[in-house]
Amino acid sequence: SNPSILILPGDGIGPEVMTEVRKVIDWFGARRGLAFDVTEDLVGGAAYDAHGTPLSDETMERAQAADAVLLGAVGGPKYDELDFSVKPERGLLRLRKEMDLYSNLRPAQCFDALADFSSLKREVVAGLDIVIVRELTSGIYFGEPRGIVMEGNERVGINTQRYTESEIARVARSAFELARKRGNKVCSMEKANVMESGILWREVVQKVQDEEYPDVELSHMYADAGAMQLCRWPKQFDVIVTDNLFGDLLSDAAAMLTGSLGMLPSASLGAPMANGRPKALYEPVHGSAPDIAGQGKANPIACILSFAMALRYSFDKGAEADRLEAAVEKVLADGLRTADLLGPDGGGFVSTTEMGDAIIAALDAG
Ligand code: NAI
Ligand code: MG
Repeated sequence: SNPSILILPGDGIGPEVMTEVRKVIDWFGARRGLAFDVTEDLVGGAAYDAHGTPLSDETMERAQAADAVLLGAVGGPKYDELDFSVKPERGLLRLRKEMDLYSNLRPAQCFDALADFSSLKREVVAGLDIVIVRELTSGIYFGEPRGIVMEGNERVGINTQRYTESEIARVARSAFELARKRGNKVCSMEKANVMESGILWREVVQKVQDEEYPDVELSHMYADAGAMQLCRWPKQFDVIVTDNLFGDLLSDAAAMLTGSLGMLPSASLGAPMANGRPKALYEPVHGSAPDIAGQGKANPIACILSFAMALRYSFDKGAEADRLEAAVEKVLADGLRTADLLGPDGGGFVSTTEMGDAIIAALDAG
């Protein structure tokens, strides 16, 4: 049977950008013989409106069974007053938690046509293509003890950085697997100079490489030096693997090397399923953008590039992912710009639909 994709468009511009992704998926089916079994379901505010919950049990089951989940965005002002337990974001949190998505992939990819959008010099970012792998389910955001407690006559805020060997090993494996599908190079970042968890992190990542991935090049860097190197010469990296806290900061910084929120895809991966594919949720980094929803202004590229990641990392179709990214590169080089990309370079304004159609035309021509 065909590989399965569950599509959860969600709220706001989610359904608008997902309509363009559907065109791309259908194109791969019709023109490249890459058929997927695609089903659509509700998440977030849309699911709350229909079922009184931001993610129904049935949808959760479908997500667990799918080879890949593709999500648009959730949330919006209409749902701001809802009780926390049924807020749209809870739908997304439930997916991440129950699928145990411990490996968060945030690419920083700079298309040549947008290099002048970066705050860095063109030659530093043009052609950049790296992925930061952030551990997502453990570390200082979850470690116990935590809390604000009295100590003598003042309060003290406590968080605990805590990583088990198996938590480190599984995210390391995820990074090495990705590297094999890309430039075969991993840089692991921690602070082994001042943190116990950093010493263990370095040791375990090294051991996983020695025993299971000797073909992948591995280096280690202190995370603060890594932040400097990311700004100085980011093209030295291929895959960076790091913990939850450092990954939060480094991935946001790296993303902004390359420009607009409307361009940024992401993936969250979990343990391999019986068929060897990792559990996987692909989604744009942006939210539901209520300020532009319903106006045809949304940039569908972040969501389309999220599908390209699915092709590469869930379906082992690296060449097809390259083809899709080349089509995106082509329309940008031709000067097509959604509202978020309008800048001093005088590119031509196009709507969400026009951008999607242009990408399809570029796929046809490619
Ligand atoms: P946002 O990412 O939705 O929007 C921030 C700004 O970027 C807005 O001006 C928006 O118009 C623009 N923008 C975002 N995506 C764009 C695109 N594809 N094309 C063109 N412009 C784009 O973040 P914001 O405004 O903080 O949150 C809005 C809603 O989205 C809230 O309800 C929030 O909770 C939710 N949200 C959901 C996320 C998710 O589903 N993963 C992530 C972030 C926010
Ligand atoms: Mg963040």
